[in-house]
Amino acid sequence: MSRKIIIDTDPGQDDAVAILLALASPELELLGLTAVAGNVPLALTAKNARIICELAGRDDVPVFAGCAAPMHRPLVTAEHVHGKTGLDGPALWEPAMPLQEAHAVDFLIDTLRREPAGSVTLCPIGPLTNLGTAFERAPDIIPRVAEIVLMGGAYFEVGNITPAAEFNIYVDPEAAEIVFKSGISITQMPLDVTHKALVTRPRLEAFAALGTRTGAFTAEMLDFFERFDIEKYGSEGGPLHDPTTIAYLLDPGLFSGRHVNVEIETGSDLTRGMTVADWWGVTSRAPNVTFIGDLDAAGFFALLTERLARLP
Ligand code: RIB
Ligand code: CA
Repeated sequence: MSRKIIIDTDPGQDDAVAILLALASPELELLGLTAVAGNVPLALTAKNARIICELAGRDDVPVFAGCAAPMHRPLVTAEHVHGKTGLDGPALWEPAMPLQEAHAVDFLIDTLRREPAGSVTLCPIGPLTNLGTAFERAPDIIPRVAEIVLMGGAYFEVGNITPAAEFNIYVDPEAAEIVFKSGISITQMPLDVTHKALVTRPRLEAFAALGTRTGAFTAEMLDFFERFDIEKYGSEGGPLHDPTTIAYLLDPGLFSGRHVNVEIETGSDLTRGMTVADWWGVTSRAPNVTFIGDLDAAGFFALLTERLARLP
């Protein structure tokens, strides 16, 4: 029996790889993609999500456009990392598959009300605006969510958009606060683990060597995407953030972490969007998140490469 998931996303090259991994994995039933503004504005994230579905030969997957800006703040984007299109690197095209009529927030609410309680897992890999808005508008869906596996935040690794905050949480800290305080079982993939999932040259060449359009497209995307982080961190490759969430669903044994309290900074300008993890249990605040700090990187890339090989 496959696990029903919804991926909430702001593609984004690493989002694209996460979506491809999900589409290549029969253990998962992707009920839909909900696009959110983040790496690039909503019109582009909604377009890019459809390009990735068409690349994988899956124009049957419904794609919904969601929130165009954070709940209470102006949008911050990341073209400096992802390029103007959000998917710089490979040649892109105007997708033929249509956007769904419904708003992504309505799709989230309607789906969680329709599907059996506890049967749908949410995988947000961009700013949490769509989820925060859905939970605020329809609190009855909160106990119906099976679990949330998200990419976002940082603690020991510190921030990537400010010294204190990771991009996804920084963009919409109020939405993140709603999600982290929801009481839903949350597994968090922070920069602490994603910065250990580096696309080294041999790993990128393994994608290109697949000899498929998906392999070539993925290699071209990541070749562009990694330049920013290699220059910034001097690392041997770019971090493959978002696919860690899907890989966790497929093989949780690849990852390790700790169940701790994590709260979101929303008041301070200096540390806005910081995910404050009580890793050493120095407060009486109840644990609410499984905070992932490590992974078997070789196993992660082996899984990813084997699965991408299944796509056209
Ligand atoms: O900070 C990394 C996160 O921000 C990833 O989800 C990436 O796609 C961007 O959205
Ligand atoms: Ca993302």
